Amino acid sequence: MTIQWFPGHMTKARRQIEEKLKLIDVVIELLDARIPLSSRNPMVDEILKGKPRLVLLNKNDLADPQVTADWVKYFADQGLPALPIDAATGTHVKEILPRVKQLWAHKIERQLSKGINPRAVRALIVGIPNVGKSTLINQLAGKKIAATGDKPGVTKGQQWIKVGTEMDLLDTPGILWPKFEDQMVGMRLAATGAIKEELLHLDEIALFVVKYMVQNYGAGIQERFGVQDLPEDLDDIQEMVKVMEAIGRKRGAIVSGGKVDLDKASLIIIRELRAGKMGRISLEKPLDKR
Ligand code: G4P
Repeated sequence: MTIQWFPGHMTKARRQIEEKLKLIDVVIELLDARIPLSSRNPMVDEILKGKPRLVLLNKNDLADPQVTADWVKYFADQGLPALPIDAATGTHVKEILPRVKQLWAHKIERQLSKGINPRAVRALIVGIPNVGKSTLINQLAGKKIAATGDKPGVTKGQQWIKVGTEMDLLDTPGILWPKFEDQMVGMRLAATGAIKEELLHLDEIALFVVKYMVQNYGAGIQERFGVQDLPEDLDDIQEMVKVMEAIGRKRGAIVSGGKVDLDKASLIIIRELRAGKMGRISLEKPLDKR
């Protein structure tokens, strides 16, 4: 699902999350492990107003494990516990409940010391579209929940999903909008499929991917497409386009006259990246220039 965000949608989305926040104890902030900061809502700290928070780095099956480890440290340094998961397969999803309970342990202890039987901790999943919120809700529920995230402007009654006896999860996630201002952020979001590729030119996205891969994952391109000579100068666009053409030629993306169909080649590069065919690739590192 991709939503076209306009200021009115953002205001409504924010209001909907603020309504949900009144009901819950802990927020589960879902980010894309391949692009954690680019897949993060720019106003998330302000919107969540200091609620205890667990960061989940989802789609870690597609991300570079070493870079993900750097991100976990990055968030820990900011006082935010972060856990890499794959919501689609359920990998590490069982570790979410103990982490959420840790964030709520002080309240449980206080209730116990007053002789009150502690209730289940109430949690809400928030994140930008396509980051895996519905997939995660279904994994935690242990079954397919019909409801996907509510669209901005559409309200419905809240249902709780029991995750064991110790956590209640709101069945509709909080949908946040991504950052729009920064071009690099837009490229990362488009490359990973978080925003519609029609919003940007395919060849621009593919060029960004090829450049990042040449810089960081040259072997991935060489092994997948048999392109041996990779440019040394990262700013040489023509050389990068030659790599795209070599990939297109390898995959038979040729138009009449023997020229490479660059749009087709771009689509191949983007699809194969998203499917993890070129290996586990992260498109953002904690130290990348912003
Ligand atoms: P949302 O509610 O946040 O909008 O996201 P949703 O769960 O619908 O997931 C979006 C896409 O991401 C789905 O692919 C889903 O299967 C995929 N996905 C979710 N978690 C993971 C994960 O851990 N690893 C991988 N590799 N994929 C994951 P889809 O239905 O094929 O949609 P699309 O790819 O056509 O957009």
